Amino acid sequence: TKTYLTGIQTSGMPHLGNYYGAIQPALAAAESNDTLYFLADYHSLNSVKEPARLREDVRSVAATWLACGLDPERTVLYRQSGVPEVFELATVLASVTAKGLMNRAHAYKAARDRNEAAGSTELDAGINMGLFNYPILMAADILLMEADVVPVGRDQAQHIEYTADIARAFNHLYGDAYSFPVPEGAYPQGEGSVLPGVDGRKMSKSYDNHIPLFMAENRLKKLVRRIPTDSTPVAEPKDPDSSVPFQLLAYFADAERTDGVRKRLEAGGMGWGELKNELFDTINDRFGPMRERYEQLVAPGSELDDILEAGAARARGRAAATMAKVRRAIGID
Ligand code: TYM
Repeated sequence: TKTYLTGIQTSGMPHLGNYYGAIQPALAAAESNDTLYFLADYHSLNSVKEPARLREDVRSVAATWLACGLDPERTVLYRQSGVPEVFELATVLASVTAKGLMNRAHAYKAARDRNEAAGSTELDAGINMGLFNYPILMAADILLMEADVVPVGRDQAQHIEYTADIARAFNHLYGDAYSFPVPEGAYPQGEGSVLPGVDGRKMSKSYDNHIPLFMAENRLKKLVRRIPTDSTPVAEPKDPDSSVPFQLLAYFADAERTDGVRKRLEAGGMGWGELKNELFDTINDRFGPMRERYEQLVAPGSELDDILEAGAARARGRAAATMAKVRRAIGID
């Protein structure tokens, strides 16, 4: 068995992209591997500056994992903040990480590009050190638990490569005393491995184009209806693959249903409105049954707090063991 680890930022209710890219594969891996899944609350501090919201979002992400089927006996579910060794390891890792590597990180570069496009002369304006250091903290999350495999969406590939680079740099210096396992990413297969949002770009909270997993039924229906489509009349043939509702349907409906809809769109006679009804039913049938469990779990006083506390205790046990080896290796013991 291998050790699998993944994290989700606590910045709002998880969406269909998070489910497809991380939650579903991670839960499948949990059947036969050693698994640790955590809530990246300190990562989200870079973007979430309202304490009440941060608290709520931690519950929301934890409840999502559990409602989707995570078994807390089998998988260690914990908050990043419950394992302070992460921050100690991040400091150690920073000392073996080239600044140039961080300069090239996608998220950091994208923030600078936005400043440039806005005509700002200070390209780092509004960029905090938390964003700059983000890949190092993420490497610490992964290496601290000696993870072998990290199930994530394609958008995280650079972060996983950086983690492997940082692990190698550490191992190169201290490998006689201690080496981190060099982790690899496990990504959803196939062309459309990044799930699109309602506007066709990557589904992301920061683009505000996401479909939350447990949205109330009536709001979900409205959101699906608002997905933009072209103006091909109902009777005419349509290209399924260039339409966002069809792409989303293909992720969540079974092959037979997807095929049936494809044929009807291509033949003409099926309108976008009907396609959207199919999409709504598909999402609602799939996630509706979990919604109730989700609602119970997010409510104050649910078993969620105890689960997270027990998970943090288990995670800290592993963290302490790794840090003891790391400290000895670097000469701080
Ligand atoms: P986050 O919180 O942005 O997203 C959580 C997971 O969902 C995946 N994902 C997607 N997959 C497919 N299509 C999409 N449109 C889509 N949007 C998001 C992400 O790839 C991710 O797997 N940096 C991480 C959190 C993190 C982490 C870690 C992950 C912190 N430490 C250690 C793994 C290991 C992030 O921001 O994910």
